[in-house]
Amino acid sequence: LAATTYQAESATISHGLVESNHSGYTGSGFVNYDNETGSYVEFSATAPAAGSATLTFRYANGTTTNRPMTITVNGVTATTNLAFPGTGAWTTWQTATTTVTLAAGTNRVRATATTSNGGPNLDKLDVDAGGTPPTTGRP
Ligand code: GCU
Repeated sequence: LAATTYQAESATISHGLVESNHSGYTGSGFVNYDNETGSYVEFSATAPAAGSATLTFRYANGTTTNRPMTITVNGVTATTNLAFPGTGAWTTWQTATTTVTLAAGTNRVRATATTSNGGPNLDKLDVDAGGTPPTTGRP
């Protein structure tokens, strides 16, 4: 199944700003996390059924220092300190991926900065909840 895209600028933002001054983002902008521990972006992600899902975060980090973030799902830690290493420039966007378990229906997927540098600039989250697509011609 195709991934579902959630734009960071449309998510719930705590201690960050929507900006668009570095090119290459999708949608209308990206989130610039405040440079502090605990700043976060929370997405409301829908899964058709409970199970494993791949989360792909698209981000830029124009520094040479990793900006790890902890990923929680519905308030429970799923991935501690997912790495968001430097991408070479604020206009160079790469992805960081992790696998989590989602509940059926709506899930709160939060990415929280764990260092005083804050998070990277976050463009979007793609959620691939997997599953088996229907097979053509099957009764
Ligand atoms: C620069 C850059 C911002 C970035 C910030 C940071 O100011 O222009 O887009 O968010 O550095 O270090 O977080």
